[in-house]
Amino acid sequence: MRLKNKVAIVTGAGAGVGEAIAMRFCQEGARIVVCDISRTRGESVAVAILKSGGEVIFVETDVSSESQVNALVQVALEKFGRIDILVNNAAVLMSYGQIRAHEMSNEEWNRTIDVNLRGYWLCSKYVIPSMLEKKSGSILFIASRTGLRGFPGFAAYSASKGGVLALMRSMAADYAPDGIRINAIIPGTLDTPMNAKEFSEPGARDKYIPRIPARRLGLASDIAGMATFLATDEASFCMGGVYFVDGGADLG
Ligand SMILES: NC(=O)c1ccc[n+]([C@@H]2O[C@H](COP(=O)([O-])OP(=O)(O)OC[C@H]3O[C@@H](n4cnc5c(N)ncnc54)[C@H](O)[C@@H]3O)[C@@H](O)[C@H]2O)c1
Repeated sequence: MRLKNKVAIVTGAGAGVGEAIAMRFCQEGARIVVCDISRTRGESVAVAILKSGGEVIFVETDVSSESQVNALVQVALEKFGRIDILVNNAAVLMSYGQIRAHEMSNEEWNRTIDVNLRGYWLCSKYVIPSMLEKKSGSILFIASRTGLRGFPGFAAYSASKGGVLALMRSMAADYAPDGIRINAIIPGTLDTPMNAKEFSEPGARDKYIPRIPARRLGLASDIAGMATFLATDEASFCMGGVYFVDGGADLG
């Protein structure tokens, strides 16, 4: 049990990558705070963790709301007394590669930046004081290749993910001397609910898979493996790193 007695908040844990990370951390002995904007999805993951014998609470939270994030962290501290791990994972992709920047609504821009970038900062801001007291902690930022390269039609999402990487590096430098390790994971294209509509189109999978050297889409569990390593003390010298889990997406 590599995370025994650690307490982890996982945002967006009601589906996809967040769900897989929450389940994997639980198998490794962590106590889990499931955070999601969807009560139905969050409660269902919390019930699955309980059934598997884990310790868990679900806190319905919109990570873009400062008052809700504050409440999330207070509830977690009241229940478990500490927070060792924060996984900043909750994000939205409001349109998939169709809308250029000048065509985008203000709502899409604002919501994407609010959830995907400001949400990561807010959750970190409220968790870090408790980590500073213990002089230890691990914070993971789930980023994206769109934050590094230009993919047509992803302006707001790309801007948010580029911001996530810059925020991660700056914060990693701020807190490394205090024993708080902050790292980012860049997943490849995943088979999760975020992409469900895109991959349900006829022929969509056949279009994507030949471009991936591993010849398959990524699974949420692929990301959970890396997240687990970075959350454990085995990664004690990993700070400010960007870890690719993408089936070799940039090899060719
Ligand atoms: N799916 C991919 O191909 C892919 C690729 C690269 C990076 N990522 C990143 O991985 C992470 C997880 O993606 P996923 O594919 O599992 O997404 P998903 O859409 O399948 O699941 C996201 C979860 O986050 C929750 N959520 C959405 N907005 C929220 C908010 N404001 N507050 C709290 N919870 C909220 C949703 O209810 C949902 O349960 C995201 O940061 C995403 O940008 C995904």
